[in-house]
Amino acid sequence: MNRSLESFENITKFKTIGVFTSGGDSPGMNSAVRAVARTCAFHGVQCIGIEQGYRGMIENKMIPLGPRDVSNIVHRGGTFLRTARCKEFMEKSGRKQAFENLKKHGVEALVCIGGDGSFTGANIFEQEFGIPTLGIPGTIDNDIFGTDFTLGYDTALNTVVEAVDKIRDTATSHDRIFFVEVMGRDAGFIALNAGIASGATQILIPETQDTFEDVFSALETARKNGKTSSIVLVSEKDELGSVFDIAKEAKNHFPDYDIRVTVLGHIQRGGAPSCLDRVLGARFGVAAVEGLLQGRKNQMVGVKGQDISYTDFDKAVKQHNPLDNSMVRVAKILAGT
Ligand code: F6P
Repeated sequence: MNRSLESFENITKFKTIGVFTSGGDSPGMNSAVRAVARTCAFHGVQCIGIEQGYRGMIENKMIPLGPRDVSNIVHRGGTFLRTARCKEFMEKSGRKQAFENLKKHGVEALVCIGGDGSFTGANIFEQEFGIPTLGIPGTIDNDIFGTDFTLGYDTALNTVVEAVDKIRDTATSHDRIFFVEVMGRDAGFIALNAGIASGATQILIPETQDTFEDVFSALETARKNGKTSSIVLVSEKDELGSVFDIAKEAKNHFPDYDIRVTVLGHIQRGGAPSCLDRVLGARFGVAAVEGLLQGRKNQMVGVKGQDISYTDFDKAVKQHNPLDNSMVRVAKILAGT
């Protein structure tokens, strides 16, 4: 056997590990589930897939996941285990039911693929019922503290860039200004990076306090500099208001401009995962199972630079990933000239 495969030290000897996806789906989740199932098999541990996240735990929807049960999913978007946001798990009675069901299947530890709400639930669950969990950050928003990249973010960026490239064809053909709304919950990672990649004239994100004057002056400068069309990328929770409010203000200020609005919506969550997200899912899945076998619990797997990292759930859920201000500067330099 290859030496790097031999070097692993398994100290906890779990017989069965459960895996589930929770909260919003994101591309790459299937790659992570596949990696969890196959890493379990590699270490002689049984893997149980729990359908629909915490809801499936409470409703006893559990299926064995052998290496062949996860064939043919690495390239698919969404999550084949399905997912849910589950109110019942917020109640102790719901968590007790979940624990009873896990016990029936012999599940001794869990891998939770989801976001900060899902990790908060896992943390409480461990304190009450002693089931250790490792988390994998699965969200397109990239807003979770403790990792440079969340699963699905890269795919969502590519989806946005592809869509904006198409919108640009109409914008340039008609000399129009398009206000395009992208997702990101209350973080501007998608808008900022997709905006740089797609050549947006202005990027509006919650982390920067832009005013309407800033928006008007950016559009005016663009016209003066010879731009006949513009794309303005607006993050869904920008403090100036909804994309429709912002476009309306712009139309009032520039009655002669031909202005349109596009909301990209859930297409950003769908589609085949990018290579980067598939690889990230694979690395996260291996690191989650091996972390559990090495005695870790209540931590989120992440990637820092080139390396796998582990961050306590407490920290991951309380803090937010800070936006890189140097990227805001890059955006402003390129858009403003
Ligand atoms: O967290 C992922 C995300 O897609 C956010 O970007 C967005 O605000 C939210 O989920 C939408 O949630 P739902 O699918 O429940 O409407």
